[in-house]
Amino acid sequence: MNGLRADRLDAEAQVFAVLRTLTLVGGVAALLIVPLRPEHQLHLAPLLVGFVVYKALLYLVLLLWAPRAREVFLATLAADLALVFLLVWFTGGGESHFYLLFFLLVALNAHYFGPAVGALAAALASALLVLANFVGLPAPWAHVGSRALLLGLLGLALGHVAARERAARAQAEELHREKEAAMARLARAEQLAAVGRLSAKMAHEVRNPLGAINLDVDMLAEIVRDGQGPAMTEARDIVREIRDEVRALAALTDEYLVAARLRRPKPEKESLNDLAADLVAFLQPSAERQGVALELRLDPGLPLLPLDRAMVRQAVHNLVRNSLEMLPHGGRVVVGTRCDGDAAVLSVADSGPGVDPVAAAHLFEPFFTTKARGTGLGLSIALQIAREHGGDLSWRNRTEGGAVFEIRLPLRGAGDD
Ligand SMILES: Nc1ncnc2c1ncn2[C@@H]1O[C@H](COP(=O)(O)OP(=O)(O)OP(=O)(O)O)[C@@H](O)[C@H]1O
Ligand SMILES: [Mg+2]
Repeated sequence: MNGLRADRLDAEAQVFAVLRTLTLVGGVAALLIVPLRPEHQLHLAPLLVGFVVYKALLYLVLLLWAPRAREVFLATLAADLALVFLLVWFTGGGESHFYLLFFLLVALNAHYFGPAVGALAAALASALLVLANFVGLPAPWAHVGSRALLLGLLGLALGHVAARERAARAQAEELHREKEAAMARLARAEQLAAVGRLSAKMAHEVRNPLGAINLDVDMLAEIVRDGQGPAMTEARDIVREIRDEVRALAALTDEYLVAARLRRPKPEKESLNDLAADLVAFLQPSAERQGVALELRLDPGLPLLPLDRAMVRQAVHNLVRNSLEMLPHGGRVVVGTRCDGDAAVLSVADSGPGVDPVAAAHLFEPFFTTKARGTGLGLSIALQIAREHGGDLSWRNRTEGGAVFEIRLPLRGAGDD
């Protein structure tokens, strides 16, 4: 509970070790100034040497074995108490004032280890007081008893207070860590927001000239439409390619504008089936080039529903593009529609590898991508479009392999009759 670090002693353990040593050094130093009985003078030198050796060894063990400092402290508690016992004995047993050192030791250990070890230290110290009363000059037993009682109270009370204080400190540290993490997330979100604003502005600026190019390309297509000869055939091919690229660019700029919420849906009664069929026809050539079977499975009974055609088309486009991007040659994508209660469901199922479990938690986060050239906006935009229509976007991995993404759209929009 006091967070010892793995490689070296933490500050609390260091303070504890020093205070314990000071307690005993104080006791031994006091021994030099109090009058000793002649038979005990003999023991003074070995006691001093033993004390110095013991403390030096203790510090060595602590340095080498920092991660186990608690166990080392606990194991040497008895040795410290025994040393105080010797001091008490040498200075008169029950009559000696050195029993006060027991109070210091109990207080220090209760503070460091908590009430249980505090009580244990008090019990051991009390037993040693009783022993000292037998082997040294005896004090009245009532005195010994009251000292033992006070030792127990001290161990329990101080241990309890320290444990509470430590728990409060741990909680404060935890809150501090959470705050730091939240600040880091906020900083990242601000960065992303700035990137988003910049891309939206770019997309906005690029969209107008793109519209003009689109018109020019349409006019050029008219001009070369009926021309004869190989040069004209080639010109028609080139014009078609330019138009495809311009459309792709326009779709991309739209994507950014929706991502930046620069555009709200304008729902009208539309056929989701037509939209799906249209999009599949549009993507069929690129699916064929990739060797992927792109299929339609429409529910003919699906009624018209309120939707912003361009936006929903873009959402479905993102899903189909994701499937195509995950599929190898020979894969399969099925775009289907169905009625489900008061909602229409458009599903895009593929025979790809399915969603990676590690990626699953982040799929809808803006800028999350597992692709080298992905922007990571496709799904977050599709989700936003579905939600702005009062619907939702969900996914699952199919047991037979591959993923299914489903857009649910309410059949009756807000304010509908
Ligand atoms: N059909 C799918 N099968 C497996 N994983 C998918 C599928 N669709 C999406 N994912 C995973 O979700 C991630 C996020 O998709 P999202 O469409 O948001 O971004 P992206 O496709 O990586 O980039 P882009 O902005 O170009 O669409 C993908 O990188 C991919 O790991
Ligand atoms: Mg995508």
